[in-house]
Amino acid sequence: MIFIDACKRKQTPYTPIWMMRQAGRYLSEYKELRKQAGSFLDLCHNVDLATQVTLQPIDILDVDAAIVFSDILVVPLEMGMPLEFLAGEGPKFGRTINTQEDIKNLKDEGYKNLTYVYDTLSQVRSQLSKQKALIGFCGSPWTLATYMIEGEGSKTYARSKKMLYTNPKLLHALLQKLTNELKGYLHMQIKSGVNAVMVFDSWASALQREAYLEFSWNYMKEIAAYVKKNFPQIPVLLFPKGIAGYLDKIDGEFDVFGVDWSTPMELAKQFLGDKYVLQGNLEPSCLYDISAMEKGVDAILSVMGKNGGHIFNLGHGMLPDLPRENAISLVQMVKEKTKR
Ligand code: CP3
Repeated sequence: MIFIDACKRKQTPYTPIWMMRQAGRYLSEYKELRKQAGSFLDLCHNVDLATQVTLQPIDILDVDAAIVFSDILVVPLEMGMPLEFLAGEGPKFGRTINTQEDIKNLKDEGYKNLTYVYDTLSQVRSQLSKQKALIGFCGSPWTLATYMIEGEGSKTYARSKKMLYTNPKLLHALLQKLTNELKGYLHMQIKSGVNAVMVFDSWASALQREAYLEFSWNYMKEIAAYVKKNFPQIPVLLFPKGIAGYLDKIDGEFDVFGVDWSTPMELAKQFLGDKYVLQGNLEPSCLYDISAMEKGVDAILSVMGKNGGHIFNLGHGMLPDLPRENAISLVQMVKEKTKR
């Protein structure tokens, strides 16, 4: 598998590429199956349809890895937090976490109920070409905690940060509980056939540096170390979004560092390129325009070259209105330009 070889810095015939949020609304085929399922969560729960949606970008884009179709928020859902995805508004929980009691009431080992994810994974793996990797994923404890404390997406993270500064012990208790769940969740995903795992820390940049290291990065490292200890052959990818200013403090036992679009690639290479394979980091909006896209690709390749240590990706997720033709061209372009 080209993607897995690249995670391990082995020689590959070209730089592998996949895209965060490569399954989704920019594909009419996705919208069709979501309609068939009923809602986004129904689609996540439907093993056959989730399998098809996971495989769509492989067939349409010819990317080198599939990422299982699910969401980071199914973990709190199965810990007992009712969840809805409202059209145009994003996720909403039916309750929030404010007290020790609330944390105590969260179900232990809720990840064991995520059988629909595990069944999707084994079905995808059995249908996926041997050349293509299957990536499992979870959200970081901090990013999940923000949704559980706020009850929905937030611009300021005021409630989460209020807890951090007024009752840090309480936040640590929630983060530790989530960390334990996520270790079990990734363990089960690996047992179900994934070839690599990725942790998304989408709201990393909400925290100043010392708070980030204490309340998020430490737990990411704990999860990564757990996977590496139990499954040394499985690559671990960590994606903390928007922390260019903290790169000098990044350490730990993992394989691939996901570089977001706001972090200059040369900076990531300077601080982390010797120790970790770098993944990224094309600004997704470049895909609105084919020449902007090519310029972005050339800029990244001028830093990363084509001799390994790099996995091509966007610097955050695909947007619903990006033209699919440009996504298809991007994959061909990167493969062509990095051919050895
Ligand atoms: O193709 C893939 O990347 C796999 C599937 C995937 C989804 N969500 C499907 C999805 C993955 C890896 C995620 C991760 C996820 N979910 C993150 C971390 C990555 C990131 O983008 O930062 C976060 C923060 C979430 C939470 C979430 N899920 C939000 C805020 C939203 C609403 C915003 C939106 O785009 O509508 C979702 C919904 C969601 N998750 C959709 C998809 C395809 C859109 C649902 C729809 O079909 O309407």
